[in-house]
Amino acid sequence: MSKTPLRVAVTGAAGQIGYALLFRIASGEMLGKDQPVILQLLDLPQAQKALTGVMMELDDCAFPLLAGMIATDDPNVAFKDADFALLVGARPRGPGMERKDLLTENAKIFTVQGAAIGQNASPNCKILVVGNPCNTNAYIAMKTAAKAGGRVPAKNFTAMLRLDHNRALSQLSAKIGRPVSSFKTMTVWGNHSPTMYADYRFATSNGDSVAKLVNDQEWNAKTFLPTVGKRGAAIIEARGLSSAASAANAAIDHMRDWHLGSNGDWVTMGVPSDGSYGIPEGLVFGFPCICENGEYTIVKGLEIDEFSKPYVAKTLAELEEERAGVADLL
Ligand code: NAD
Ligand code: LMR
Repeated sequence: MSKTPLRVAVTGAAGQIGYALLFRIASGEMLGKDQPVILQLLDLPQAQKALTGVMMELDDCAFPLLAGMIATDDPNVAFKDADFALLVGARPRGPGMERKDLLTENAKIFTVQGAAIGQNASPNCKILVVGNPCNTNAYIAMKTAAKAGGRVPAKNFTAMLRLDHNRALSQLSAKIGRPVSSFKTMTVWGNHSPTMYADYRFATSNGDSVAKLVNDQEWNAKTFLPTVGKRGAAIIEARGLSSAASAANAAIDHMRDWHLGSNGDWVTMGVPSDGSYGIPEGLVFGFPCICENGEYTIVKGLEIDEFSKPYVAKTLAELEEERAGVADLL
């Protein structure tokens, strides 16, 4: 007997990430090859025509797992009974901007959508914020959802640091000449911004310590961290547009592992802090997580050594500043 379809809301569905994302969700890459899905697609009124075109293409794929879809410009309709919500719709930055420059403009989107999630979504809805600055936008959505009805627990509001995690793996793979598939237990701490701290001290490759294989702290500080931290800007510079396919891929990875499990490996997720590692409770921060039975758990007890402390402090300070900047909205 086939499974009951799960409802997946996607915002910004007519945008460039949406175009790289929806077809993969509908083909079962996110929730499993035996899991039917209903897509609930949200975009602005002026994007509805383009969204109709995307839906025509989804139809034309004849995906066996696509059990239905709707398009709407009303967040209350898009999030109705949603089991998963991917909040992509927001303005991307252009050349010369930082992601936090988008905060004022994009923050309002997440107050409205947070409230709509709080009032309409399934009580165990899993939410991933992709729209930048994603950590603080997830924080805004979490707070406004709680105010608006509190159907969905705060811990279900997460932000996307998986792209940073994947970028770090790819750089490390090139450095030590081992395949990405050989790596385990990588992590990225903090904000999805150049202050993020991609930390391979605990990572292994086929069981060997990655830190020992790299054995080059200067490369870490001067090449690896800046390359991973500024990769988004480098893509914008090269493409004239921000990353889309790799962002959609990371969103799929994040949701798939959360729903189906990370098989004991660590995955980086931006999640509301539970006070671990001295990060203030509620701040949405990149942590190493293990996913099992549809829940994530922050990996505890890792040492933050003298090299790492200033990096963690810097990304934390930036997130606290962003939080202060949106206090009046909440
Ligand atoms: P895009 O401009 O191609 O598409 C954005 C879509 O969102 C558009 O269709 C737009 O109409 C829609 N939209 C805008 N406001 C909306 C609202 N209030 N409700 C619903 N839809 C709305 O942009 P994109 O390239 O798809 O990027 C989307 C966001 O994702 C940007 O903020 C970008 O910076 C961010 N991003 C994050 C990561 C990450 O790793 N966290 C990676 C890549 C991009
Ligand atoms: C990325 O990391 O590629 C995205 O956050 C887009 C951006 O603005 O850098």
